[in-house]
Amino acid sequence: MVQIGKLTLDAPFFQAGLAGYSDAAMRLVARKHGCPYCITEAMLDQFLIRGGRGLVAAEITEADHPIAGQLMGSNPQDIAHGASILVKLGYDVIDINLACPVKKIRRKARGGHLLQEPDMAVDILQAVKQTIGDDLPCTLKLRCGTDDSAKALSDFYQIFEAAMELGYAAVVVHGRSVEQKYLGPSNWDFLKNLTHTYPQTPQFTIGGSGDIWTAPDIFRMIDQTGVRLVSVARGCIGNPWIFAQARALMQGKPMLTATLKQQRDVLLEHFTLSVQLHGEKQASNMMRKFGIKFSVHHPDPDAVKMAFINVKSLTDWQAVLDQFYEASSLPLQEGREVI
Ligand SMILES: Cc1cc2nc3c(=O)[nH]c(=O)nc-3n(C[C@H](O)[C@H](O)[C@H](O)COP(=O)(O)O)c2cc1C
Repeated sequence: MVQIGKLTLDAPFFQAGLAGYSDAAMRLVARKHGCPYCITEAMLDQFLIRGGRGLVAAEITEADHPIAGQLMGSNPQDIAHGASILVKLGYDVIDINLACPVKKIRRKARGGHLLQEPDMAVDILQAVKQTIGDDLPCTLKLRCGTDDSAKALSDFYQIFEAAMELGYAAVVVHGRSVEQKYLGPSNWDFLKNLTHTYPQTPQFTIGGSGDIWTAPDIFRMIDQTGVRLVSVARGCIGNPWIFAQARALMQGKPMLTATLKQQRDVLLEHFTLSVQLHGEKQASNMMRKFGIKFSVHHPDPDAVKMAFINVKSLTDWQAVLDQFYEASSLPLQEGREVI
């Protein structure tokens, strides 16, 4: 059991915010496979405040709980306003992103940029906490610094300690710096040092992110670093089975791989959910990149990848499934076990 404030998770992992991927369709598929908790991709406070499409995109359904709405912005008032909108939309947790390394986000003094402006970052954390009070848990996503300088380290600790003191329920730290983006390994020693320095309590959880590719990685991170919660990010794109496998490991059961029939069912369900959310044209565009990720689980990944790249409609998607995921095309699948 892991606490995020008053929210109790029955497993120590969750699906991370993944811009361009982790929409309601991906989240619902993850939940079906045993993911206990999801975070949305970072939403701009301005999009919520202005209303219109940004606000519609933030709406959630009953099946999509528990869920954290992740916010990104550049000033305390607007982020706090955004947070109050997320409360009205029914989110269970408010998560603040001070981690995004994307240039155009940082240029507007949002996301990872704020790691180098600790006073402003703390003002933001304070304003959000003041607005939300104890109604919902507030959490924070950080990287381990702007870069590897001494100033970056000191800025990180100023923000981290402020989050603890303000009563944030959890801080999830990605063990790469903003400058690093995704290059090089995630620094798990940094996470280990953090959990050794700051005690975790039922009121305060430290989470880790970075280099979680398989279900065993989740438990390796917990063992090696002492974090109580693990963020599954790139490792679950096209691989919702990672959550079922992690649950199996928790129960001491063997870690099973998905059969082609199970892959087919998920591919069809994910596409159908995406069409419901976005309409067929946009869903087809989005699902192509998922198809590429899903293809690595197929015995003939290169051919399947090429086929997914050419998908423009639900009919095309189904044709790929019929060609590559039919029972008659399964010789390489023999002996694989069912989750
Ligand atoms: C395409 C992409 C989009 C991402 N979008 C977000 C986001 O919106 N919010 C967030 O907190 N992290 C985001 N991240 C970072 C991931 O949540 C995670 O911290 C990072 O990928 C490191 O974990 P990994 O090495 O296991 O993938 C994103 C990462 C990728 C690759």
